[in-house]
Parts: sequence; C-alpha cells; structure tokens
Amino acid sequence: MKRIAIVTGGGDCPGLNATIRSVAKATAKRGWECVGIQGGYGGLLEPQNYRMLNYRDLGNLLTKGGTILGTASHGTFSSRTGAGHTRRVSDAALADAKRGFDALKLTALVCIGGDGTLTTAQQLYEYGIPVVGIPKTIDNDLDCTDFTFGFDSAVACATDAVDRLHTTAESHNRVMVLEVMGRYTGWIALYAGVAGGADVILIPEIPFTYASVQAKIRERESNGKHFTLVVVAEGACETGHDMTSVGERQEGEVRLGGIGVRVAAEVERLTGKEARTVVLGHLQRGGIPTAFDRALCTIFGVAAVDLIAAEDFGKMVAFAGTSVEPVPIPCAVERLKRVPLDGMLVRTARALGISVGD
Ligand code: F6P
Repeated sequence: MKRIAIVTGGGDCPGLNATIRSVAKATAKRGWECVGIQGGYGGLLEPQNYRMLNYRDLGNLLTKGGTILGTASHGTFSSRTGAGHTRRVSDAALADAKRGFDALKLTALVCIGGDGTLTTAQQLYEYGIPVVGIPKTIDNDLDCTDFTFGFDSAVACATDAVDRLHTTAESHNRVMVLEVMGRYTGWIALYAGVAGGADVILIPEIPFTYASVQAKIRERESNGKHFTLVVVAEGACETGHDMTSVGERQEGEVRLGGIGVRVAAEVERLTGKEARTVVLGHLQRGGIPTAFDRALCTIFGVAAVDLIAAEDFGKMVAFAGTSVEPVPIPCAVERLKRVPLDGMLVRTARALGISVGD
C-alpha cells in the first residue's frame, strides 16, 4: 500500500482540479491512498493541513476552475525571485517539510506547479523527499515540455477577447490594445494574436519601437483598414526600456502590467487615432479548462502515478508532441522557455504581415 500526496503551488490555473482528479483516480485504481496537502507546501508543516482524496470525492473536478487544495505563491517555500533567479528554501523549512511528509506516512509527493513550485520540488527531492512534478502555468515558460497545462485555456480566453475587441475596433475605427499575461515570455500573446488575427503582436522576446507600430497602422490606413488590433504581452518592452511594472515588488518578483495603457497613449499621440486598452488580467487564469487542457491534465496525472509506481523520482512529466516523457526537474526550471525568434509562430506572423514591432 502506497500513500501519495498532491500539492499545488503558485498561481491558480485552469486544469489544476482536473490534474488532481487524474492523480487521485489513478492512485485509487492501484489500490493506494491519496492525500491532498492544502495551502501549498506549507500544508506539510505541523499541524499538517491535508484532506483525504477518496475516489467517491472526485466528482465534478474535471471542469472546475482553481484548486480545491488551495495554493501559495509567496512565503517560506517560494524559491523564485525573478526571471530564472533561484532562492534556496531554508534547511529548517525543508527539514520541517520532511518531518511532515514522514508524519503523514507518505510514499511520494506529486508537485503540481510552475517554475517556482518545481524549483522548490527539486530542493525537497535533494532533501530526501521522493517527488514527481507536473508542469502547470498559463505562461507556457517551463523548459523541456512542449506545453504546460493551463496555457491552452489562457490562449482560448485571450483569443476570445481579441475576437470581441474586433467588433468595437472595426465599428469605431479605433486601435484596440489587449494586454495579456505571460510574465517574461510572449507565448500567450503570440498564440492568441495569431489565432485572433491581430495586426500587431508585441512580446518580451522582441523589443519594439513605436515607429514600427505606427508604420503598421499607417499601412493599414492606406489599405482602407481604419482599425488596428494590438496584442501586447505584459512583459513586452520598448527597445532600450525596462518592462513595465505596477505595485510593490513582493519577495523580489516584479508585478508586471501597464504596458497596454502606454502603448495606447503613444499610438494615440503618434497617429491621432483613438486608441483604447483592455487588460485581460486574471480572467485568463479562471474558468473551465479547454478540452485540450483537460486531456493533457488527465494524461499528465496518470503519467505521474506511473512514475511513482516505477519509483522514478525527481522527474517532471513532459509533453513531447505525441507522447509524455519523464525529464529531470532541473531540465524544466534551469532556464525559462522563451519564444524562439526563428520559431514557427514568429515566422508565421511575419509571413502574414503581422507586425511584431521591430
Ligand atoms: O505565472 C502566471 C501569472 O499569471 C503571470 O502571467 C502573471 O505575471 C503572474 O502570474 C501574476 O501573478 P499574481 O496573480 O500573483 O499577481
């Protein structure tokens, strides 16, 4: 009899509950027990905060947003302080987590999260806790996996927003700017921009100039198109400038945002056209996961339980086109997966005449 625990960490994301369901069902099918650690890694600490995940309790989870276990993106177990910068969790906290793991008589810990949660998972593994990772983030910025779960749902939400903004842009001859999430990478902006037929897509990987954005709007005007749709990633920046941030820094992580408003103001000043901004924000992280994400979460969950059965720990399940493969966790978190400048999507955008601002 094995006793598996699941923990969710970092920001909420569509598909977390679908993944919990999959891990717990696959565990139950093997005749093992499943425990949900509540409130992130801190739930392992004395007095442990957990609940049993019995097969009969797993109804209605496939489509439910958020995480029934709760999550934590700051505090004792946070190990990320910015783009690729790692903070070591204190030995005292790692020892406390190991004590909690032993007290609950656990066999393995399934860590569902993004770069921060999985960086911490690696530290717990090095401390003697058998872990398996599952890649979660709307940003799609984990390395060594083609896709993370949650990304497809965020792209669907952002694409829907582009579609809706099209109406106002065209009816009012306006420039509509949509600011999307993605932190230091432009995956969401690029996929949603291409899928939604945006005219300008600005991403952190390609610094932009306002002259280039203005030129695209002028070109459209001269072609009789008196409206323009701009999708801008929150981390996009003008050449020679830093990313735009809002609010306070929390434990070193910059809270990005504000570039959409800046782009609209500058476009209005340069072109004289009315420009408006919509910041999509956390809408991208809520709601029902897409069919693709639900399937991916379910596949990832089963693959994670298979790794535990094989006692193949310290690995993350990764999506490799047509199969799911185990990769060492450091492979996923050592560097951010940025949009390749000569990759399929950037080339596709350029080939269609979409401006990427350079
Ligand atoms: O990593 C997911 C993400 O939604 C990023 O796209 C965004 O920059 C960040 O989290 C926002 O985090 P929070 O909700 O903590 O402000």
